[in-house]
Amino acid sequence: MQILRPDNLKEEPLILGIESSCDETAAAVIRGRRLLSDEIASSANIQALYGGVVPEIASRAHTDAVDLVVDRALKTAGVKKEQLDAVAVTYGAGLLGALLVGLSFAKGLAYGLHIPFIGVNHIRGHLSAAYLEDETLRPPFMTLLASGGHTAVIYTKSFSEFEVLGGTLDDAAGEAFDKVARVLGLPYPGGPHIEALAREGKPVVHMPKMLKGEGGYNFSYSGLKTAVINYCHTMEQRGEAWSKADVAASFQSAALDILVQKTVEGALEKGVTTVTAGGGVVANGYLREKLTEACMAHGLKLVLPVKKHCTDNAAMIAAEGLIRYEAGDFSPLSLNAAASIPLR
Ligand SMILES: Nc1ncnc2c1ncn2[C@@H]1O[C@H](COP(=O)(O)OP(=O)(O)OP(=O)(O)O)[C@@H](O)[C@H]1O
Ligand SMILES: [Mg+2]
Repeated sequence: MQILRPDNLKEEPLILGIESSCDETAAAVIRGRRLLSDEIASSANIQALYGGVVPEIASRAHTDAVDLVVDRALKTAGVKKEQLDAVAVTYGAGLLGALLVGLSFAKGLAYGLHIPFIGVNHIRGHLSAAYLEDETLRPPFMTLLASGGHTAVIYTKSFSEFEVLGGTLDDAAGEAFDKVARVLGLPYPGGPHIEALAREGKPVVHMPKMLKGEGGYNFSYSGLKTAVINYCHTMEQRGEAWSKADVAASFQSAALDILVQKTVEGALEKGVTTVTAGGGVVANGYLREKLTEACMAHGLKLVLPVKKHCTDNAAMIAAEGLIRYEAGDFSPLSLNAAASIPLR
């Protein structure tokens, strides 16, 4: 199958990014690293009724929304589709039916316009969100990835080379927030609700250690989740008064402090001077504050994506599309959706 290539690579290409891997249909336009538009339609309010994402509902919602969201992104950017230099789209990881909606739309658009098509790894998108925050940001840097499906400390060596220093051995950080929220009777997605509740409590409930192995970079969230369940059940069985807000605050600090500590340790170990972060959990205000403090204390520069670019969005897909465009790394139109893919 053909790979569409431009005659010349442009200095500041106009790139449309499309994201449809889960329950967000998103489209964004960038010119170089400048964000011109950033549109999103979410089926999260419908999914919340079911306590999680129902794949069939997500796919149908994407089908309803994708052309409208893309049109809105082009209009807000003040750009005609004929002016675009490339189309970047998430091809994995994610829900297959959901991915196929954005992927097929992007392929059709690129084919019709005869411009490069770039299939983006969603996680690489989360890592690239930081590039939009700082035009001067260049690897090497240390990245904290904390999302709904991934948690890792990653040494970003170059625009395309990564070394995963360590990650979760079981649940991801976001997944743990969602599961603990359910135990505390909070709505889906749980992260923002736990954060809000934690502000009213104190971290006084004992939580188990998150680290697996001595001094490594591997985390384990399942013990933390079980500790919360056991604590809540025990208190209820004893009929003792307990504070949900204290549990939320205790869980939040146990879940996030170690990520901050290990990210900074990683940066110091590898001798890099810059730290970045990405993924939905990085929208958490407590985590942002702690990471900022820790980086300042160690003289590290921190580049954090704005909160909107931490959770799923198309701006980060366009940003990763730009990195790929600059490398002349385009995808064949035969590229298929993939439920799971490695970082590289
Ligand atoms: N303020 C917050 N505090 C903690 N967690 C949060 C916050 N906001 C969002 N999250 C969590 O982030 C996750 C969503 O992040 P994201 O959209 O990046 O995940 P995903 O796309 O489902 O997974 P992945 O990117 O790993 O494939 C959810 O688990 C949600 O609870
Ligand atoms: Mg994501």
